[in-house]
Amino acid sequence: MPDRHLAKRGLTIGYVSDRTGLPQSAIRYYEDEGLVAPDRNESGHRRYARADIRRLSFVMISQGLGFSIAEIREALSALPEHRTPNKSDWARISRRFGAVLDARIAQMQLLRARLDGCIGCGCLSLKTCALYNRRDRVARKGAGPRYLMGDPVELD
Ligand code: FES
Repeated sequence: MPDRHLAKRGLTIGYVSDRTGLPQSAIRYYEDEGLVAPDRNESGHRRYARADIRRLSFVMISQGLGFSIAEIREALSALPEHRTPNKSDWARISRRFGAVLDARIAQMQLLRARLDGCIGCGCLSLKTCALYNRRDRVARKGAGPRYLMGDPVELD
C-alpha cells in the first residue's frame, strides 16, 4: 500500500480498510458500536492510530468466532483509552477471553465427536438413539441436544 494513504496525523480509513480487509462501512459500524474511536482531523475526516489495526483485527476475528458485539466491547473495555495498548493490556483480554474460548473449543470438539451419532435431542431418528437415548429418557434432563450440551451419556 502506498504511503500516500498514511496521513500525517494518523491513518486514513482507506488505509485501515486495506490493511485489515474490512470494508470501510464495517469500520464505521464498529465505530458506531464503540469498538474503535478514531480522531478527527480539522476537515472532519477519521484518523486512526496504528494500534487500531490490531483492535479492528481482534474485532473481526472475534466476530468470526461467534462472539457478539457486546462481548467484544466488554473485552475491549479492558484496554486503555488514552495510550497505545501494550502486551500486558492484551494479556488481560487474553485471560478474560481465554476461558470462554476454551469452553467453545471443548464444545466444538464435542460437536465434532458426536455429530454423526445420537446427540440426545429427542428426535430418536438414528439407529444409535435406541442405545444412547432409549425412549427419550434424556428428556428428563431438560430441553435441547443434551449430549452436545455436556450431559453424560447413560447407558443401561
Ligand atoms: S439424535 Fe436425536 S435423540 Fe438421538
